[in-house]
Order: sequence, then C-alpha cells, then structure tokens
Amino acid sequence: MSQACKTAILISGSGSNLQAFVDAVNAGTLDLNLTVVFSNNPNAYGLQRAELAGIATACIQHNDYPDRESFDRAVIAELDRHEPELLILAGFMRILSPGFVKHYAGRILNIHPALLPLYPGLNTHQRVLDAGDAWHGSTVHFVTEKLDGGPCILQGRLQTIAGETADELQQRVQAIEHQIYPQAAGWVGSGRVEFRDGATWIDGKRADQPETLTF
Ligand code: GRF
Repeated sequence: MSQACKTAILISGSGSNLQAFVDAVNAGTLDLNLTVVFSNNPNAYGLQRAELAGIATACIQHNDYPDRESFDRAVIAELDRHEPELLILAGFMRILSPGFVKHYAGRILNIHPALLPLYPGLNTHQRVLDAGDAWHGSTVHFVTEKLDGGPCILQGRLQTIAGETADELQQRVQAIEHQIYPQAAGWVGSGRVEFRDGATWIDGKRADQPETLTF
C-alpha cells in the first residue's frame, strides 16, 4: 500500500480551508498525511484548528526577518524538518520568493478566489460585482513565480446573484473552495495530477484548461 503524501498547510488567518482538509481526511475522502500547519501569524485561528486536530504547528513571524529571502529560508528550514512532499497555501498572505518556489518546484498548490486568469490579486469578489460578471468562483492552481499565475488544476464556479454583497458572494465562493481544494490536492497527492514542463497534466495528458465544476 502506498504511503499518504506528506503535506504541509500554510495559513495566515482563519483556516477554514485547512479545516476542510482536516474534515476530509477524517471522513476518509482524502488520503493525505497532514504533517504540519505553518503560519507567519501567531494569532491565526487556523493554528488552534490544527492543535485541536492533533497536527504539529509551527510559526515564524516575517517581521523578525530583514527581507523576504531570509524569512523564506527560515520557513524552508522549519518545513523541511517535516519532509513535506506537498505544500498547500490556504490563505497564506505572503508573496513567495523565487528561491522558495524553486525549492518546492511543482509541489506547491494555492487556491485563489476567482476564475483565473480573471482577477488575480486582492478584493476579487467586489471587482467581480463591480464588473457585473455573471460567473465567479475559485481556482486551485500550481504555484510558480508568477503571482496567481501558475497552471490551473480545478475551478469551481457559480452564478452571481443580482444585488448580493461582496461578503455574501465570498461566503458562497468559500463553500465551493472547501470542496474543490481537498479534491484537487488529493489528485496531486495520488499522482493523478502532475506539474510538468510548466503545465498541469491530468491522467497523463497535458491539460491547458482546468477541470471545472459548476455549483
Ligand atoms: C480563501 O478564501 C482563499 O481563496 C484565499 O484565502 C482565503 C483563506 O480563507 N486564498 P481561510 O483562511 O481558509 O478561511
């Protein structure tokens, strides 16, 4: 029997996506070995979620380091004690240095609350409403040096509702995230999805469009 993929989850805040991973592993629907939860923010509620779930935690504050590179080197040293095979960015509010991305090349996933390549960056829900878009959603993608620009794996989409607020839309999108992120990570952990030649490969075929689920 193959060993479950050793996985580190990086957070800065609430950690509702982290909780979705914990719940999926506990329910037996996700075969990952969650070895450590790392935060740059000691007050992140997600650290409490990890402790409750019996997962090791680690915290290093970026303010204690003179620059991005030295902070990232400290994070690598901490994470590598746990020998992660997969890194899950789940609301980790740090831009990663090229050295960090290279160190874990093809093994870092992120979830971005938009239908990439639409709306990289922050404040996506309000921007979608302001533009009057009919569709919105969230994207799981491999992380490369380009912010919110790595190859996509899985998108979940929904239709916007006339008159809804950015907060309401965010909550609906987050509910999707809690389903698609563990699902996509499971695909990577099992080897069904790979990062190769700068692209996503699904079942041995290059996938230039992500899988899409409509909610
Ligand atoms: C998620 O909505 C995700 O799209 C973004 O950060 C948020 C993290 O939320 N990258 P949580 O900490 O998992 O609740």
